[in-house]
Amino acid sequence: MHSIPINVSKKILADISSGIYRTPANALKELVSNAFDAGAHKVVISTNAPYFNVFTCEDDGEGISAKDFEKIINIIGSSTKRAEGVTIKDGRPIIGKIGIGFLAVAQICTKFTVISKKKGEKNYFQAKIDLKQFEEVEKEKSFTNAEGKISLGSGDMEEDLEDELGKNAHYTKIIMEELKEGFHSNLVEEESKRMFKITEEAAKSESLINFIGSIKKKTFNELSQYDQLIWELGILCPVEYIGNGPLPDNKVIHSDVERLRGYDFKVFVDGFEIRKPIIFPTNKYLIKKESDYKVYPYISFNEKIGSPLIFTGYVFHQRVKILPPELQGILIRIKDVAVGEYDRTFLHYPKAEGPMFNQLTGEIFVEAGLEEALNIDRNSFNETHPHYLALKKFLWDYLGRQDGVFRDIRNRSKERQDKFHKKQSKEELTRMVESLKDKFELNIKVKWESKSFKSPYKYNKKSKNITFFSNSFWSKNEKKRLLQEKIVVAMIGAREISRNMESFEDNILKIFSDEK
Ligand SMILES: Nc1ncnc2c1ncn2[C@@H]1O[C@H](COP(=O)(O)OP(=O)(O)OP(=O)(O)O)[C@@H](O)[C@H]1O
Ligand SMILES: [Mg+2]
Repeated sequence: MHSIPINVSKKILADISSGIYRTPANALKELVSNAFDAGAHKVVISTNAPYFNVFTCEDDGEGISAKDFEKIINIIGSSTKRAEGVTIKDGRPIIGKIGIGFLAVAQICTKFTVISKKKGEKNYFQAKIDLKQFEEVEKEKSFTNAEGKISLGSGDMEEDLEDELGKNAHYTKIIMEELKEGFHSNLVEEESKRMFKITEEAAKSESLINFIGSIKKKTFNELSQYDQLIWELGILCPVEYIGNGPLPDNKVIHSDVERLRGYDFKVFVDGFEIRKPIIFPTNKYLIKKESDYKVYPYISFNEKIGSPLIFTGYVFHQRVKILPPELQGILIRIKDVAVGEYDRTFLHYPKAEGPMFNQLTGEIFVEAGLEEALNIDRNSFNETHPHYLALKKFLWDYLGRQDGVFRDIRNRSKERQDKFHKKQSKEELTRMVESLKDKFELNIKVKWESKSFKSPYKYNKKSKNITFFSNSFWSKNEKKRLLQEKIVVAMIGAREISRNMESFEDNILKIFSDEK
């Protein structure tokens, strides 16, 4: 065993304040991303619930050698993943870029162990790392060493260890101990209100769907920390969607859904596979395409804004509020990893569109570019970066232009209301006709024809048929139109049952007296 130094470059540390990862899920996302980059197919996270005293994260990726590991932590913030400009490896985009993802662990715990066996190597290594010093460094006590790097402490390295798994095994395992107090106590205290329970029942895939269903009834903050963790990890990681999500018709985003599936990348937390908890529409009774919900034209952008900016995506609207509200807005993914949360302002959309904002959701999948605009926390953007500005401009236009989303939502809403009123009109008129039959034994029938005619209606005295035609006489407003139609029916009805003008007026009033 020997001691290994852990250092971080000054510049990086200046960027990292104590809480760059806003939530535990945000920190775990970094470990999952590393496993993804290492070509893993399975990541197994365990929280040791209900004690939550030790977290582990294990993947079956290519692993890392002891020597490389030493190098990495000797100078944190110097990733070599993109050396020679490589951005794709074994069909997967490379997520890592800066070389600080590992520091995410420091936000979860103060002590951790890395165990890894590199593909093709016979033995594994184990490095025990104590991050106590990290807290002090964060409190701005300087530990600058001779090389101008800042020391975060040291670790104990044991190399050339043998396992029973044989030569072909390769893996990386990270064991996190002495979890940060706030984080640990939140998990423990809220354990009783946890909804996502690990039972045999839950082993069936529907449990996650049920869990999501029950989340809709709560506000997100009512959820336990654990539930939030499960939810958030699903949103953030490059795993598949739940069920047949995210859209009622995935044909539109076929290539994006297939790409995710193609990664064959699964993440388990305490034995359960997590998925993206995204499935629309969010209410079961929204079943009518176009009128209840709509998937807008596929987003596909490919331009050079200094360097290439390439993204695809979708926008979905449903006529009632999307619940939970955490799914409202637009989510930006870079290399299939979410950046922050759904942005409910749609990148600060400049006009007030009221409730429409609550009914809209979408995802943008960035294939190239925008990475430079990422802040170091990988949860937010430098909003003045040209790529961010270009994306914003595109989205605002997509939503706001003449034939854009907002205009279309308004039109659909008007159509729906017209349809509703039309139906109501028909029902009311039928009632009027029936009361003529009951009270005056007069059997008038009413018909509508969509062809236009020189007069607004025609009455056939013999068959007692009234036919309404399209004609500019009729009001465009369905309510007014109903009144017009009623007057016509009452007039014709009164004429049929009256002998003279006096009784005609009388009868019109009688017919209308029912119609209050
Ligand atoms: N699960 C893992 N399997 C194999 N190697 C890993 C794993 N996790 C980390 N590494 C190695 O450790 C290095 C540092 O990881 P870290 O997340 O800090 O940086 P990065 O992924 O290169 O960049 P970024 O800061 O953008 O995530 C990686 O480049 C990789 O070589
Ligand atoms: Mg990383």
